[in-house]
Amino acid sequence: MTHFLAIETSCDETAAAVFTDELTILSNVVASQTDLHARFGGVVPEIASRAHLRNLLPVIDEALSRAGITLKDVGCVAVHNTPGLVGALLVGVSAAKMLAVALGVPLVGVNHVAGHIFACRLAAGRDIFPCVGLVVSGGHTALFRCDNALSLTLLGTTRDDAAGEAFDKVAAILGLGFPGGPALEREAASGDPKAYDFPRTFLKDDRLEFSFSGLKTAVLYACHGQNVPKGEPPSPGPKRANLAASFQAAVVEVLVGKCRQALRQTGLKRLAVGGGVSANQLLRNRLAALCESEGAELFIPPMSLCTDNAAMATLAVEKWKRGEFAPPDLDAEPNFL
Ligand code: KG4
Ligand code: ZN
Repeated sequence: MTHFLAIETSCDETAAAVFTDELTILSNVVASQTDLHARFGGVVPEIASRAHLRNLLPVIDEALSRAGITLKDVGCVAVHNTPGLVGALLVGVSAAKMLAVALGVPLVGVNHVAGHIFACRLAAGRDIFPCVGLVVSGGHTALFRCDNALSLTLLGTTRDDAAGEAFDKVAAILGLGFPGGPALEREAASGDPKAYDFPRTFLKDDRLEFSFSGLKTAVLYACHGQNVPKGEPPSPGPKRANLAASFQAAVVEVLVGKCRQALRQTGLKRLAVGGGVSANQLLRNRLAALCESEGAELFIPPMSLCTDNAAMATLAVEKWKRGEFAPPDLDAEPNFL
C-alpha cells in the first residue's frame, strides 16, 4: 500500500491530506484564512500567500499525525499546481517539490478543477465516469464532458464572473459579509424568490455558456436605483431578504438549466457537481429534481469535500497508476486548464 501526502494552497485554504492508493482518506486538514480576508471583503493574494507560508508546515504535520503516519511512510507527494492565485500555488508547489526530493518519492501535479469533479468519485466510492461535470466555485463555472478522471473536455464556461464570485459580490452589495455564499444563502431563507425578476442570461440559448455580471448589476440597481453608483447596503428586513432570495433563484435556475442542456446534448446519464457553490442547498435540491426527471444519476460530495481541500487530490492516484509523474521543475500555472 502506498501513502500519498497531498497539498492544496490554490486560494485561501491551506490544506493537506493523507490517503492511500486505494482511495482511503486517512486525514483531511483544512486551515481557512477567512478571518484574514474578511475586512477586505475578498481574498487578498499577498495575504493569502503569506498565510500559506505560516500555516502549511503545521497543517502537514497535523495531517500526518491524524493519519497515524510519519514522513518516512509517504510514498508519493501530490499537489494542486493549477489553476489558482500564482503566489498562493507557489507555496504549495515549492513545499511539495522539496518534500518529494527529500523523501526520494514521486511527485504528482493535480489540476484543482478536475479535483473538484474527482471529489464526487471519492465520495461515491465507485466509478462515476463517463459523466457531465459541473464545477461551480469562486473562480470557475464550467461544464465538462468527463470521459474518465483525467479526460475532461470543456463544454462551456462563464464569459465574466464565476457563480461563486457573483454570490460574493452580491453579498457585498447587500452588506452580508465575507465569504458571501453561505451568508447569502442564510439571508435568502426568509425571502421571496419571486419578488424580483432578475435576468437568467443565456438560459434559452443552446450554447453551454454562462454570464453572471448582468445579474449582479441588476441586483445593484434593484437595491439602490439606476443612478446611484453604490449606496449604503440595505438594512435587515424583507427587501434585503427578497433581493437575496431572487438572486439565488436566478443563479440556481441558470446552473440547473445548463446542466439539463449538457445532459441532453451529450446523452450522458450521470452528473457530477463540485466546487464551493455546490454546498448551496437550493442548488443541491434542484439538481436532485433535475436528475430524477432526466433519469440521470447525481453525484455531489458532502459539504466538506465541496469546498477547497486536499483530499480531492486523490485524482493523483490515477496519474500515479499511469506513471504520470511531475518533472522536478513543476511550475505553478495560474490559468484555467
Ligand atoms: O471551491 P471553493 O471553496 O474555492 C474556489 O476554488 O474558488 O469555492 C468558494 C466559493 C465562494 O465564492 C463561496 O461564496 C461559494 O463558493 N460558496 C457558496 C456557498 N458556500 C460557498 N455559494 C453559495 N452557497 C453556499 N452555501
Ligand atoms: Zn476550488
